[in-house]
Amino acid sequence: MNFKGVCFALLLLVSSAANCVSATTYLTAAAMVDVKSGELIANPAIIVEANKITSVGVVGELDIPAGAEEINLAGMTVLPGFMDMHVHLDSAQDGVSFLESRLQSVPRRAVNAVANAKTTLMSGFTSVRNLGAANYTVIAVRNSIDSGQIDGPRIWAAGPSLSITGGHCDDNYSPPEKQSFSQGVADGPWAARAKVRENIKYGANTIKLCATGGVFSRGTKVGEIQYSLAEMEAIVDEAHRRGLVVAAHAHGTEGIKAAIMAGVDSVEHVSFLDKEAIQLAKKNGTVFSMDIYNTEYTLTFGEQNGVPEENLAKERAVGTKQRESFTAAVEAGVKMVMGTDAAIFPHGLNARQFSRMVQFGMTELQALQAATINAAALMKQEDLGQIAVGYLADIVAVAGNPLDDISITENVAFVMKDGKVYKQ
Ligand code: ARG
Repeated sequence: MNFKGVCFALLLLVSSAANCVSATTYLTAAAMVDVKSGELIANPAIIVEANKITSVGVVGELDIPAGAEEINLAGMTVLPGFMDMHVHLDSAQDGVSFLESRLQSVPRRAVNAVANAKTTLMSGFTSVRNLGAANYTVIAVRNSIDSGQIDGPRIWAAGPSLSITGGHCDDNYSPPEKQSFSQGVADGPWAARAKVRENIKYGANTIKLCATGGVFSRGTKVGEIQYSLAEMEAIVDEAHRRGLVVAAHAHGTEGIKAAIMAGVDSVEHVSFLDKEAIQLAKKNGTVFSMDIYNTEYTLTFGEQNGVPEENLAKERAVGTKQRESFTAAVEAGVKMVMGTDAAIFPHGLNARQFSRMVQFGMTELQALQAATINAAALMKQEDLGQIAVGYLADIVAVAGNPLDDISITENVAFVMKDGKVYKQ
């Protein structure tokens, strides 16, 4: 049996995922969103060779290469694979509160990440940035995905999130006699630099720092700045020298501004914005990654999932403000990416945030750009985020036109990553 024959036999056995890379694929659909121009192109034809897009045209004008496998996505619209710039793949599955998931063992959390990576890929997210995980679990999972051992999105993985002692990303749940610190804790510029180096040593290909308090941590105030400007400058300088993109968790205004001034590439959450912070971000080209679906999820399901009152109260304080800030940032033309903080809601529901991004001020096209070209630009990955010649073949398809109804992105029917079909 030749290779194609093996693939065909596998297809008969496995209905959900083909997992076969044909040397050449000729893909047609009803429409394609060109996320760069915003155009909806009818009857697109795309040629994929190995993991790259080598031709893009329209049916009838682009010849079918000899021996190509043909995939016809009738009635579907194709789009570049979605990119979520803020996830935590090692979290527990739905129905387990974040507090319980903190108590899970390292191996269990690695298994969570394996399962969540697959769920995320199958929902159309072909790339994610994992913003913080203890014990380098998600780095191991990323490496397993890259080697073809397991299925998942391409991952930029931070190691343990950098935090001040007692900060949002420290362990504030254990009693003092345990002397328990999260692995990312580092105080002072040199210690913080050393922590960046340690993360890189163990495989991190992006860096996350916690600039302010947060919603889902004990005893921290969302509005309070934690890392000083000098510490953040040291972290950014060290990461940039090594070619890594830096994300800063920041809710409070002072922390947002200091993170921007320190030169971080993206600010996460960005709840309490003011005009000066918006201007600073625009001037420095800082990208905002705002997880605006979370409020709805936590205020609906948090209590039944066992989220403590302290955290529910902080969510109530942050939610409305964050959405207003999102609208203001969109109106001001700040660069935005899609970042959901999946883990707070179940993995695989990431696309629910698209409709909220439209509800709070983006056009459908802007929301799609946030999860494609803008994310690729943030990660300096020039061959991702578009269906165009020379780009990596990460392609998804939905039934209907997402420029009319963005919520159809919640039902992705076809997923190709790196030229390989995972869902059809
Ligand atoms: N990881 C963030 C934190 O704990 C999540 C914030 C979720 N709430 C929100 N409105 N975005 O602070």
